[in-house]
Amino acid sequence: MATYHIRRCGRLSGEISVHAAKNAVLPLMCAGLLTQEPLTIEHVPQLTDVHTLADILEDCGCTLRQEEGAVTLWADEPRSPSGGDLLSRMRASVLVMGPLLARTGYARVGLPGGCAIGQRPIDLHLRGMEALGAQVQLTPGSVTLQGRLRGGNVYLDFPSVGATENIILAATLAEGVTRIENAAKEPEVTDLCDCLNAMGAHIAGAGTGAIIIQGGTELHGCTYTPIPDRIEAGTLLCAAAMTEGSVLLRGVRPEHMQAVLFKLRETGVALRETPAGLRISGRASQPVQVRTLAYPGFPTDMQAPMMALALCLRGTSIFMETVFENRFMHAREMARLGAGIRIEDRIALVTGGRVLSGTDVTSTDLRGGASLMLAGLAAEGTTVLHDPCGHITRGYADLPGMLRSLGADITVHE
Ligand code: UD1
Repeated sequence: MATYHIRRCGRLSGEISVHAAKNAVLPLMCAGLLTQEPLTIEHVPQLTDVHTLADILEDCGCTLRQEEGAVTLWADEPRSPSGGDLLSRMRASVLVMGPLLARTGYARVGLPGGCAIGQRPIDLHLRGMEALGAQVQLTPGSVTLQGRLRGGNVYLDFPSVGATENIILAATLAEGVTRIENAAKEPEVTDLCDCLNAMGAHIAGAGTGAIIIQGGTELHGCTYTPIPDRIEAGTLLCAAAMTEGSVLLRGVRPEHMQAVLFKLRETGVALRETPAGLRISGRASQPVQVRTLAYPGFPTDMQAPMMALALCLRGTSIFMETVFENRFMHAREMARLGAGIRIEDRIALVTGGRVLSGTDVTSTDLRGGASLMLAGLAAEGTTVLHDPCGHITRGYADLPGMLRSLGADITVHE
């Protein structure tokens, strides 16, 4: 797959629009399984995760049409997917489980894959489905669920984004009231609820820890525009901060990014919200302390890009990863560029300000790969970033092109 040649660059500058959020679009696409009427999702980014999920949904009996950046989908006769291998390619594919179970009373899905950033079990999804009346049977490599769903009370031990979304999707068609306690508050969960409500669902409490779904009504189609990608936006802000750039991000929702904006301000950069967008400028110099948490805490997906920025700060930054247990893989690759990073269990100590020198590095996972591209912007000479598994294009529609439009020197070699 792709190899990126990244040369050290000066200040990034210019204006750029962010794409719609991958993590909003994927669950929205799965909502297409809930209805026979067309659901149109606008401004869908060209991501391999989107293409993979489109294949999985077709395998589940969905009809898909893609036109001018919009995806329209509906499911006349949904069914469990036949291809196990598709499911192992991405974790979000587990989100077909709730809709299939709710609509047909049966779902058999292969156990999901995705980035190898931790164990990533699906026990919370399964316990949620059980609370709605499903019988769950685990077999090696797959899980089968059956039963006619009805509303129920669910308490999540951890506010899992995927489990919250899966249970919401299932509960919309389950007769009666479902209450999810300790639900995820991520903006992408709220976006899913907004879309489902536009399809005729009755969901209250989105964005809080208690989500209540009055289920059982038939859902209809609608046209929906997903929220902008706060992680893509944050990645671009880190890139700008690393180069003392001046960049205007258009179409972002700063209210979705408060934790990241706070940390960026602590480094010394100026961030200004204007009617045209969010402008970053100035010099990032002060080290930061970052603890990843569920929303509204600092997003785990921004830990790696922020670590790339920390390489350019004066002094020692501290990163504590509390969401995933194996999410410092990029640190080893950054060290190959000359970065000073010490890892102790879930804590990374990053000594900034060292001279970085371009060399060959390998993308470790989606956000880790993006962070290595950022590190390459600050390294002397050329950094050759190998991405044999295509991690970066899973979640960024065109990161090298976006950075290039701001002045970076990055070439892509397929
Ligand atoms: C989603 C995002 C991902 C982000 C993550 C955390 C999508 C498509 N992906 O992933 O980019 O990094 O949220 O913000 O939206 N867990 C369990 N049991 C479960 C489910 C989760 O123990 O049944 C654990 C996971 O192992 C992990 C933590 O909960 O340690 C968070 O996972 P979760 O919020 O579910 O992440 P995803 O929905 O997979």
